[in-house]
Amino acid sequence: MSEPKPRIKLLVVEDSPEDRVIYRRLLEQCPDLECEVLESDTGEDGLRLCRENAPDCIILDYNLPDLDGLEFVADLRKNQYPGAVVMLTGTGSEEIAVTAIKQGAQDYLLKDHLTPMSLSKAIRSALRIKELDRQKKKAEEELKAHKDRLEELVEKRTAELKSAHQQLLHAEKLSATGKLAASIAHEFNNPIYGIRNVLEQIREDLALDETHAYLVDLAIRECSRVATLIRKLQDFHRPSDGVVSLMNLHQAIDDMLLLADKKMKERNIRLKKIYDPRLPQIRAVADQIKQVILNLVQNAEEAIPDPGGEIVITTNAQPDTILIEVQDTGCGISPETMKMIFDPFFTTKPQVKGTGLGLSVSYGIIKKHGGDLLVESVPGKGSTFIIILPCEGEGR
Ligand SMILES: Nc1ncnc2c1ncn2[C@@H]1O[C@H](COP(=O)(O)OP(=O)(O)OP(=O)(O)O)[C@@H](O)[C@H]1O
Ligand SMILES: [Mg+2]
Repeated sequence: MSEPKPRIKLLVVEDSPEDRVIYRRLLEQCPDLECEVLESDTGEDGLRLCRENAPDCIILDYNLPDLDGLEFVADLRKNQYPGAVVMLTGTGSEEIAVTAIKQGAQDYLLKDHLTPMSLSKAIRSALRIKELDRQKKKAEEELKAHKDRLEELVEKRTAELKSAHQQLLHAEKLSATGKLAASIAHEFNNPIYGIRNVLEQIREDLALDETHAYLVDLAIRECSRVATLIRKLQDFHRPSDGVVSLMNLHQAIDDMLLLADKKMKERNIRLKKIYDPRLPQIRAVADQIKQVILNLVQNAEEAIPDPGGEIVITTNAQPDTILIEVQDTGCGISPETMKMIFDPFFTTKPQVKGTGLGLSVSYGIIKKHGGDLLVESVPGKGSTFIIILPCEGEGR
């Protein structure tokens, strides 16, 4: 059984009526094509028919009354005509034909050598070239899309590696500082408590005049401050020593808020709690997690300038993690400061107020729990610290 002839829509643009009759006959005799033929006798009309009917192929006479064949092909290219073009030229105009092909025609035929076979062959070859062009273009587009995707992936991966590297650096810095701090703290701990005891005894046992009593009180307070600092320094090393147990986070947050409550009321800071009732209990070292919450709440409170503002604590249960957000309407954090807030001893607060250990200790604790501590901030508007902790649906 012979294959069915391909049926194509063909547009003939030719001003000579006699020639059009000849082409029509030749096309009817084409051995392996079945054509639906449209005809046009001017370039402009040909272009219009092309726009309206989208023929598969155009048989184009080079010499038209209004446009020449090259102008016609240029217009087709401008309008991204997807079909094929076979240019017809007289003998001796081969150069024109070559130019036409360079400009977008797929094949050419000499008018005085036309036969049904040569016409059919030229049309089929033009259609094939066009199809190959289309496939090449598609392949190029796909290649470009792959390349773009690859570049995107490389960029993403590079950013991830950079961030992992930074975290590693930070973790190393914390660990080194932690070890140093813990050993110094150990050396300082006993003497400082000893000094404070002596001072307290002097305060109690001796009848000091007002000035000396004031100075001894001051010395006792300073000893307490140093003792607190030492405790914080030791916290660097403590996380792994804590006892892991099932803890209720809402209870822990409430306990810590109680400690901050008085200060917040004095400073006119509203407190809002948005607790997720589905929040599961988690396995963690309770006093360490409480310490992180307290650090974040204290920071939030300290960031809010007078005459007050708002702190919102939100909890959220996700499939494998829980989130605790501490959001404040405080001063916010500038991009330059942001780079340093997790560094040990970095503080923007006056010496009596901040040691710059709150966030680095908190970061260490959360990391040791397999979680993460993130921050988002808009300078002048406020900050949000987000604790992420893993959970396995414990106690749901
Ligand atoms: N909620 C916040 N809003 C604005 N800045 C903040 C906030 N939390 C932390 N910071 C910035 O990060 C710095 C480091 O915080 P961190 O808690 O580590 O130390 P600190 O609060 O200064 O001292 P402390 O050891 O008493 O906590 C702060 O000094 C402050 O500049
Ligand atoms: Mg702090």
